[in-house]
Amino acid sequence: MEPRSLQDQLLYPHECFTILREAHGPIMYNSDGRFWEIFDYEDVHYILTKHELFSSDSAKYSRDFEDQDFQSMLNTDPPRHRQLRSLVTQAFTPRSLAQLIPRIAEITHELLDDVEARGSMDVIYDLSFPLPVIVIAELLGVPAKDRARFKVWSDELVMGEYSELASMEREAYIRRVRERFRETREAINNYFRDVIAQRRREPRQDLISALISAQIDGDHLTEQELLNFCLLLLVAGNITTTNLIGNAFLCFDEHPESMERLRRNPELIPSALEEVLRYRSPVTAIGRFAVEDLVLCDQKIGKGDFILGWVASANHDPAQFSDPGMFDIERNPNRHVSFGHGIHFCLGAPLARLEAKIALGIMLERLEDIRRDRAQPLPPVHSSFIYGAKSLPITFAAH
Ligand code: HEM
Repeated sequence: MEPRSLQDQLLYPHECFTILREAHGPIMYNSDGRFWEIFDYEDVHYILTKHELFSSDSAKYSRDFEDQDFQSMLNTDPPRHRQLRSLVTQAFTPRSLAQLIPRIAEITHELLDDVEARGSMDVIYDLSFPLPVIVIAELLGVPAKDRARFKVWSDELVMGEYSELASMEREAYIRRVRERFRETREAINNYFRDVIAQRRREPRQDLISALISAQIDGDHLTEQELLNFCLLLLVAGNITTTNLIGNAFLCFDEHPESMERLRRNPELIPSALEEVLRYRSPVTAIGRFAVEDLVLCDQKIGKGDFILGWVASANHDPAQFSDPGMFDIERNPNRHVSFGHGIHFCLGAPLARLEAKIALGIMLERLEDIRRDRAQPLPPVHSSFIYGAKSLPITFAAH
């Protein structure tokens, strides 16, 4: 095989994981970062299942955690986790989601109307970014027209592109990145503080109003908890779904015959999306902390040690998936861990699946001869835990 460039390594990470898995086995101690890395399916699945041994609580265990850092249900353990999660599960039940179907289809059509005559589009900028942002903005009850701001904020928080700081010393760099992170958090908090104040005055039929009136054991959420919820849903729900849709087209670029099969058999779209989730996982890694001294994969793990479970590697583990390097849109079983597992299993998984299914179905219905525009660059997202392309230009013929 031809040696791949750094850019290609970012776009084809499972090949790097295969090399790491073969070289280190299921576990490796990262001595630079001073944490453990897990590569195999069984152990990634285990750390996600055993929440009583592997904590999500970064405020309690992380040596880098600062008071103002972001804390939500994602990094909270039971019993508080269960209480916080129960407040928003209502918004993601099959019944609530069924009501969103016509709106998701309408938004997808509108976004495609804007580009159809051009014969070309950027899957990320023109569709897979705006669609989930508009949906979550409408669920939360904030104006979708503010989406350009949401994009800037998500990019800062998730992708952290600080190339202009690259020449700095490591300590100064980390300090500056944290400052930038804080500034972005503050901008988001200011935005949502205004919305929350408005909804306190005039409640509406939206998720923010519902969260304001919700109670846990007789107590309302604090202002900070409300802000954290908004930030979690805005960031967790967007960039990930953007990349699921984008990653589907990266897979089709490599396997155009799959896209043609889906065009003829749209009923295969859900199982094809599961394979996209496995083959090119939008979230590549999930972290946990050991709550006590324990043994994992024959290694002694100390209390408080950070353990990174590589989802992208687990999803390509040959012990779990036959022929894992094959992109098979009818793979069955396909028990990937792309939405996590256990008590923190992604709350938005049904919404992400629904949006991607509708968007892909409509694209295949309306656009013929879809091809990646190979004359344009394919820049990868630079992130240690999010995987996808920053921009994905395609050409097509409209019906
Ligand atoms: C949790 C992935 C879409 C909201 C998670 C986790 C993963 C994940 C891996 C577990 C993290 C952990 O165990 O520490 C994804 C992927 C998505 C997606 C790959 C799209 C393809 C969404 C959407 C929403 C959402 C659309 C909401 C609108 C959440 C929330 C949690 C979560 C609230 C925390 C659940 C908890 O802690 O109990 N997601 N997600 N996600 N996700 Fe998603």
